[in-house]
Amino acid sequence: MAGLDQNEKKRRVAAAALAYVPDGCIVGVGTGSTANCFIDALASHQARIRGAVASSEASEARLRAAGIPVFDLNDTGELAVYVDGADEATRDRELVKGGGGALTREKIVAAASARFVCVIDDSKIVARLGRFPLPVEVIPLARSQIARALGALGGHPVWREGFVTDNGNVILDVHGLDIADPVALETELNQITGVVTNGLFARRPADLLLVGGDDGVLQI
Ligand code: A5P
Repeated sequence: MAGLDQNEKKRRVAAAALAYVPDGCIVGVGTGSTANCFIDALASHQARIRGAVASSEASEARLRAAGIPVFDLNDTGELAVYVDGADEATRDRELVKGGGGALTREKIVAAASARFVCVIDDSKIVARLGRFPLPVEVIPLARSQIARALGALGGHPVWREGFVTDNGNVILDVHGLDIADPVALETELNQITGVVTNGLFARRPADLLLVGGDDGVLQI
């Protein structure tokens, strides 16, 4: 029998995340196709929540279209929970994110949340991070010098041409990095002048990983 398709796995794992959203809370909401499934699931349970903080303009627009009030993070204080997808994840709940370019705001909202529930389909699980090119958001003026610095670290940075982040910056997607120590690399990359942030979520990994597969939703 054929397994579930990836979109169905995303829908199911996103719906499972509703169980981790406390009644009456303002929920942090991520960005991407799995986060979109979560917004769609949240839409039919919106009476349970006060509203949401969005990690991107795209998610904010989708939340508002669903009738869910969107708050500024500066007005909410700490959030109970942040729900978002990832581009890859280890069983230690360390992540690479930013395929959609929203990594900086995602990292900010995750940092402001007591619990980060990450929702992925089972194709995203890796033994070691680095298969997916690592997104790095940079100040436009510093793009070339940062690309040289990333090259010196053994990476092959590719400018995501034509893409501007919600913060007005650009993205370098770094291929070929050997991510043996995600916490150390996340820290090192953020020390390069002009880097806004990088897509490693290792210093603050997910607290709970929900993985959608053929047999249901696995918790890690
Ligand atoms: C957005 O910038 C990303 O961090 C997404 O969370 C990540 O790319 C996962 O997206 P999908 O759910 O679309 O795979």
